Amino acid sequence: MKSMRRRDLLHATGAALLAPQLAAFQAGRPAPSSEKKIRMGVVGGGFGAQFSFHEHPNCTVTAVTDLREDRRAKLQQVYRCDTAYASLDEMLARERRLDAVAIFSGAIDHARHVEACMRRGLHVYCAVPICQSLEEAARLKEIKEKTGLRYMMGETSVYRPGCIHARGLNDSGAIGEIFYSEISYYHDRGDLAALVEDKKSRFYEPDGSKSWRWGLAPMHYPTHCTGFVVGVTNERIKSVSALGWGTRHPYLTENRYQNPFWNESALMETDRGHMVRCNVFWLVGEDGERANWYGSNGTLYMANAGRHGDLWSERLKGAKPVKYPDYLKDPMIPESMRHASGHGGSHVFLSAEFVNALVEDREPFVDIYKALAMMAPGLVAHQSAMRGGERLKVPDFDRA
Ligand SMILES: NC(=O)c1ccc[n+]([C@@H]2O[C@H](COP(=O)([O-])OP(=O)(O)OC[C@H]3O[C@@H](n4cnc5c(N)ncnc54)[C@H](O)[C@@H]3O)[C@@H](O)[C@H]2O)c1
Repeated sequence: MKSMRRRDLLHATGAALLAPQLAAFQAGRPAPSSEKKIRMGVVGGGFGAQFSFHEHPNCTVTAVTDLREDRRAKLQQVYRCDTAYASLDEMLARERRLDAVAIFSGAIDHARHVEACMRRGLHVYCAVPICQSLEEAARLKEIKEKTGLRYMMGETSVYRPGCIHARGLNDSGAIGEIFYSEISYYHDRGDLAALVEDKKSRFYEPDGSKSWRWGLAPMHYPTHCTGFVVGVTNERIKSVSALGWGTRHPYLTENRYQNPFWNESALMETDRGHMVRCNVFWLVGEDGERANWYGSNGTLYMANAGRHGDLWSERLKGAKPVKYPDYLKDPMIPESMRHASGHGGSHVFLSAEFVNALVEDREPFVDIYKALAMMAPGLVAHQSAMRGGERLKVPDFDRA
């Protein structure tokens, strides 16, 4: 067995301490007991209005911002916050009370917004994806290392019950060596005529211009998939070969990204010689974010579009349904946050982990290195698909 690298020690959540047959793996490190208060700003009142930072006993949402007045009001109401600013720039210029910022602006603005916050000396939580180019990836790593501030990417997949369980099966050794993973993110764009005509949909801004979502390359949004590999075994994907498929539709012929694909599928190789099949599809009769992990002792299947529950199929013993424990009772979640939340219940876990990490002055579970390890393979997969499947190396963004 390989010796544990520093990055793997940081990754381990304590699951290995528990007997696998209990199937009660820990979701993360327990919430600290402390009087410390983190003062946060929240940016973006669409998806950003679904989180629970303010319910954490060690956190107050001090200020919120959105370019849209209706969304500012929503953020103020959700986070019970008196102070609102008309833009992130204004918040950074005028608000002196912040320790950290949670960013939920459009995907193509993340790298720029993260950088602006870190340059102001603030820790950052940011929704996925972390960036949109390898150049942005390198810059974010550099600024994080220069400032020593904390960065966390809010990848929802890593706190889905199936993923928490897979991490536990891996850490405890119960699944054996995971030699192959099938990771999928299916998010159908719906009626193709309405996609063009319905100017009220999320593919348009309120002024009728196209939003950042319009035409985004599937593999430029890979982390709901790659989170199931990096967030389970902490492997790194080192090479990728991908293909794409598209049709003639304005979504593909008239987008700012020159992306011609609805769907992209990649075969990836990890730094431990393992295989990964990764699909991100925007046009498909299917939905969801899920994985199947194939280990030398057994296979864990996440539910397929609600058609069956998750299954654990142990070699020589056969398949049976998996019954997960009530992960809301996990010690990483303060009592005040133990309620249902979006994306498989992950929102409260993400909110808790960010605040817990800042209180404990440690890196959050999905730190900058994991975030870039989830992101870079997708960026390279899209390049590969544009080059007809050429196998390409994925750059390493780990700590030197
Ligand atoms: N499962 C997941 O992890 C998941 C799910 C949904 C969305 N997301 C991510 O969350 C982010 C937000 O999603 P959304 O659907 O709300 O997107 P959106 O485009 O509807 O909302 C972005 C909001 O950010 C605001 N904004 C942009 N620039 C700003 C600035 N400079 N100052 C203040 N406010 C600014 C906009 O006014 C807008 O209201 C996206 O990046 C998306 O990728 C992740």
